Amino acid sequence: MNEIIKVSSLTKTYKLGKREIKAVRNVSFVVKEGEIFAILGPNGAGKTTLIKMLSTLVLPTSGKAFVCGYDIVKDEAKVRKCIGLSTGFERSFYYRLTGFQNLKFFGTLYGMRGRSLNDKIKELSDFFNLNDAKEMLYMKYSTGMKKKLSLARALIHNPKILMLDEPTSSIDPKSAMEIRQRIKEIKKDKAVILATHDLHEAETIADRIAILKDGRLLTVDSPTNLKRYLKHEIIKIKTDGSVSMDKDFFLENGMREKIKRVDVKDETVFIHVENTEEVMDYVVDKMKSMKVKLLKINVEEPSLEEVFLNFMGEKDDKLSD
Ligand SMILES: Nc1ncnc2c1ncn2[C@@H]1O[C@H](COP(=O)(O)OP(=O)(O)OP(=O)(O)O)[C@@H](O)[C@H]1O
Ligand SMILES: [Mg+2]
Repeated sequence: MNEIIKVSSLTKTYKLGKREIKAVRNVSFVVKEGEIFAILGPNGAGKTTLIKMLSTLVLPTSGKAFVCGYDIVKDEAKVRKCIGLSTGFERSFYYRLTGFQNLKFFGTLYGMRGRSLNDKIKELSDFFNLNDAKEMLYMKYSTGMKKKLSLARALIHNPKILMLDEPTSSIDPKSAMEIRQRIKEIKKDKAVILATHDLHEAETIADRIAILKDGRLLTVDSPTNLKRYLKHEIIKIKTDGSVSMDKDFFLENGMREKIKRVDVKDETVFIHVENTEEVMDYVVDKMKSMKVKLLKINVEEPSLEEVFLNFMGEKDDKLSD
């Protein structure tokens, strides 16, 4: 797959009087065609600043980035043509125009007109289920409808890359799900880069996730690999409770290194391990030898939330500028 975004050592320092705010520090990554790439980070991590630099709204302080092969500083106009940007900034729409008129206005800014513009608006209104609201004034739109219109606007000139800043913030779960589904469909012939602090969103739609903290990129990987990184699984065994269990039973025969912790709660044993496969046989044999009746075995993976919190807790001294 082609690399459609290349970012290398991108840095943005804002100056506030004498104070310097390092919003983005030395960030490097690539995004490939057909990929949904999520930038995940807490408030103030630098997500919006990164999106703003890649969409040419803010100049980097140092470093380089190429979007569709164009330099974000030298080829600003070409970059803008190649991307569609959707942010939570509602005031960029005309309140006294309808949704349709807004789309028409922004389409003409890209040099579109006549039949092809109308067809595109129709296609996008169908895609985002906005047909009923086409003639409604923008000021009467619900937040969910506004988000969808903003996505439709970002797609009007058929860009290769969609850049989204918090596409589902402050909307209800059903509308958020609908928008995420649409984003997944869009990525088929585009790349999508989206900033979010919503772990569920990142986990459900992103092919790869970049975790950003204090302007630094801590890691980039698929949700599955990020969870693997944590090396923590919990084997949950429900028994009939007829044999009382002691957690030390499991910590013999060199198992202390493989089993991190054992908790017993009522009839269920929770065995925390790095790798389930290494200990499963041992655990089952052990319980059978104790004549324990096993009712149910589940293996729980760590959640993305655990991975995220793990990264958020990383010591700053492990990170370089
Ligand atoms: N125009 C600006 N001038 C000065 N500082 C700014 C400016 N824009 C952002 N910052 C600062 O840069 C840092 C990163 O902000 P940014 O908005 O990029 O973070 P974010 O990850 O998008 O946060 P959020 O989740 O709250 O949207 C913050 O400390 C913020 O206060
Ligand atoms: Mg932001």
